[in-house]
Amino acid sequence: PKRIGVLTGGGDCPGLNAVLRSVTKHALQAGLDVRGIEDGFLGLIENRVRELRYDDVSGILKLGGTILGTSNKANPEKFAEGTDADGNVIWKDVTDRCFQSIEEHGLEALVVLGGDGTMICAQPFAKAGIPVIGVPKTIDNDVIGTELTFGFQSAVEIATEALDRVHTTAESHGRALVVEVMGRNAGWIALRAGVAGGADCILVPEIPFSIDHVIEQIEWRRKLGRRATIICIAEGATMIGGHQVVHAIDPTSPDPIKLGGIGEIVANLIDERSPVESRAVTLGHVQRGGSPVANDRVLGTQFGAAATQLLLDGHTNRMVAWVEGRVTHVDIADPAHGQRTIPADDPLVAAARACYTTFGDEPP
Ligand code: F6P
Repeated sequence: PKRIGVLTGGGDCPGLNAVLRSVTKHALQAGLDVRGIEDGFLGLIENRVRELRYDDVSGILKLGGTILGTSNKANPEKFAEGTDADGNVIWKDVTDRCFQSIEEHGLEALVVLGGDGTMICAQPFAKAGIPVIGVPKTIDNDVIGTELTFGFQSAVEIATEALDRVHTTAESHGRALVVEVMGRNAGWIALRAGVAGGADCILVPEIPFSIDHVIEQIEWRRKLGRRATIICIAEGATMIGGHQVVHAIDPTSPDPIKLGGIGEIVANLIDERSPVESRAVTLGHVQRGGSPVANDRVLGTQFGAAATQLLLDGHTNRMVAWVEGRVTHVDIADPAHGQRTIPADDPLVAAARACYTTFGDEPP
């Protein structure tokens, strides 16, 4: 190709700019033109495309977020455009508008940085014969086809620091501190940060937990003379026989007392059912903000250069991936098969258990 377009789709994460810099610099070095598409696929739908020159990507390696902007509600095949007389959303296939933008700007290939949703959105373009290369991003580390996504290691670092900090205040007050981390329906952030931050209990979606076992763990620790218990819980963690988790304030919920994240719910239950005081901390978007850690800058640089190289080598419909310790590439359609979750035999789960960390699935 002579001119490539690049976009960032879905939720942002640290390291996106490292990839944009790398894709662009490698392309410029190879004599290609680069166009940045604003706000993910929305920029193609709305024809917001701008040139990326050397100066535009210089100095952005360590910047959080994305200089192009992103959107996670812009699937060209199913785009929400207005409402009908009854207030229902009107869904439209607007891929034709994207093809118009692609033609107008002379884009001969696309590099899409995103998670499973973005890879799925890229399918119609790949099918239409436009070479497309995906680069897997997300703090959740849950993209099928790659063992690592950039952004994950930064999020783990932030969550680890939070766990370190709550340790001292939990000790002072003799409390159980519940730290809720992100990850959708995967527990990668909770597991890794939980181990790094010395959590006594790690609750992940892949291992359903019982609140009784969590409370037993707190009591068991108190008998040992440990005043504090630190619980690291993934936002998607599943409580056995538990309440339904409501992530947003829902005024129509029949049981408003249970509104809030799972971290709040667990802290409230500990308060109610044990003599130990508990508090919850929800880290939220703090995990997605700020500067990427060195590992994410390095991974982003490798992924970006690999994406451009794949196009130069004539590949299409591939997603850059990290498999067995090196950069490779897989079918771009792989992420559409679901979410990569922690396997039952994950060695880190075993190592954590070996250090008396529990997962709430059995008594301590
Ligand atoms: O996929 C990244 C992620 O941060 C998840 O961990 C989280 O569930 C979700 O995005 C939050 O999305 P939003 O930024 O739209 O609230």
